[in-house]
Amino acid sequence: MDPKMLKELNKQIQEETYSSYIYLAMATDLEATGYKGLATWMHVQAREEKIHADIFLNYILERGDRAELLAIEKPPSSWLSPLEIFRTAYAHEQHITGRINHIVKVARDLNDNATLNMLQWFVEEQVEEEANASEAVQQLEIVGDDGRGKLMIDREMGTRVFAVPASAPYYPKPGQATGA
Ligand SMILES: [Fe+2]
Ligand SMILES: [Fe+2]
Repeated sequence: MDPKMLKELNKQIQEETYSSYIYLAMATDLEATGYKGLATWMHVQAREEKIHADIFLNYILERGDRAELLAIEKPPSSWLSPLEIFRTAYAHEQHITGRINHIVKVARDLNDNATLNMLQWFVEEQVEEEANASEAVQQLEIVGDDGRGKLMIDREMGTRVFAVPASAPYYPKPGQATGA
């Protein structure tokens, strides 16, 4: 594929891996501050982001190109509150949506229809990702300092279970473990 496209997709492996890493850091902080349910939710989120990274990697390989893994930055290790964590997560998802839209534009300019097709799944996925994070922010804002409310949210969000996302393109590769 065009080197410009390949560069963007490699960069996206890094972005999605960093997403996984920062959500793991958030899960760790939530765990340490007693929000076991929110920590579970974030662990599931981190695993999903790892799959997003794998999809970009698999896609590059499927096109017969060579993927390059870039350096992953150290994420913050603590936040002021669960609300701050989910605000950060929401802002991060908005950033990722911007990245996806940018890659779509590059693919369109290069008339790279295969990449455009693959990216459609991410366009839809980002709508859901932003909605999930923003809903959590809203709920945490509503309960504010009410401990009982926070425990209820913690319990409810802790019921989230990991599943390989439906109809994820280029995942898994034949013979590849799903991590499920
Ligand atoms: Fe992602
Ligand atoms: Fe995400």
